[in-house]
Amino acid sequence: MKQIILTGDRPTGRLHVGHYVGSLKGRVALQNSGRFDEIYIMIADAQALTDNAEHPEKVRSNILQVALDYLACGIDPAKSTIFIQSMIPQLTELTFYYMNLVTVSRVQRNPTVKAEIQMRNFEASIPVGFFCYPISQAADITAFRATIVPVGEDQAPMLEQCREIVHKFNAVYGETLTEPEIMLPDNRACLRLPGTDGKAKMSKSLGNCIYLSEEPEEIRQKVMSMYTDPLHIRAQDPGHIEDNPVFIYLDAFCRPEYFEQFLPEYANLDELKAHYQRGGLGDVKVKKFLNNVMQEELRPIRERRKEWEKRLPEVCEILRKGSEVAERKAAETMADVRRAMKIDYFEDGNLLK
Ligand code: TRP
Repeated sequence: MKQIILTGDRPTGRLHVGHYVGSLKGRVALQNSGRFDEIYIMIADAQALTDNAEHPEKVRSNILQVALDYLACGIDPAKSTIFIQSMIPQLTELTFYYMNLVTVSRVQRNPTVKAEIQMRNFEASIPVGFFCYPISQAADITAFRATIVPVGEDQAPMLEQCREIVHKFNAVYGETLTEPEIMLPDNRACLRLPGTDGKAKMSKSLGNCIYLSEEPEEIRQKVMSMYTDPLHIRAQDPGHIEDNPVFIYLDAFCRPEYFEQFLPEYANLDELKAHYQRGGLGDVKVKKFLNNVMQEELRPIRERRKEWEKRLPEVCEILRKGSEVAERKAAETMADVRRAMKIDYFEDGNLLK
């Protein structure tokens, strides 16, 4: 069986370091592993519109931003097809048929949808389109016959729901759709990178993100003002590394060679952590080290982003061509689905049979 990746992001803002360690970095590694026959990376504008219906300009203006972030991280258009969701009409078509295979109460039980409804204060006024987005996400995944979906942990319920739709479809209409597997980062710190304020979720509205396009001085300021262990008041005090964003970021970003380069008095991260826990290591010193680490990790991304920013017509062309390739693939699946559902009336005079 072909090994196929599909994944994507909503274009509601620039991507941040949480997206990077949670999914983007892994995608680039998978892309470069040579293990995959086809790779599709989708800019999910239609999904972004499900809760931004009145702000289409916000979604539109972030399409190129997200594309630039992808290219900056090392997504290579020669190896991966980058495309825009709303350019693929088959995705909407599939969604409409999948809706018949899912109950309202099943969507209501989806923990990610539940949390998002609460976060947006939608309780009494959920747009139907927003409510159905897990179903449309199943269409995104199955249209490309994805076998692997690398996403952040918050997307696990979407994958679960997609697999249920695949089972149901195949049971009702015969084996047609491919069942996908989720792929999560294996580093725990990368699963859910907290905001710089220690809050569980990085979000633009909380102002606790470090963006991939951030300038060095902004990175420094954000790192130096990060939340740490509130009980670690003086350097001598023993400190906690659990739930301490500074150490979680080090777990996510630090490479062994950075100690030699920036903090040679420690051999590795374990030694640094042990000293912090013992007491005698101040937050400022740890933050300065983290700043060096973040600067090293983000510099190549920012520089590549600036190069692509000078070539926006080319980026636009990548998206246009990618969307054409993606539509051809989705059309093949759509034809299989129509055949399975026996709604392919005009193929071989089927309606008369
Ligand atoms: N829901 C994803 C997000 O919030 C975006 C997305 C839409 C997606 N369709 C997808 C991710 C299909 C993986 C597969 O970022």
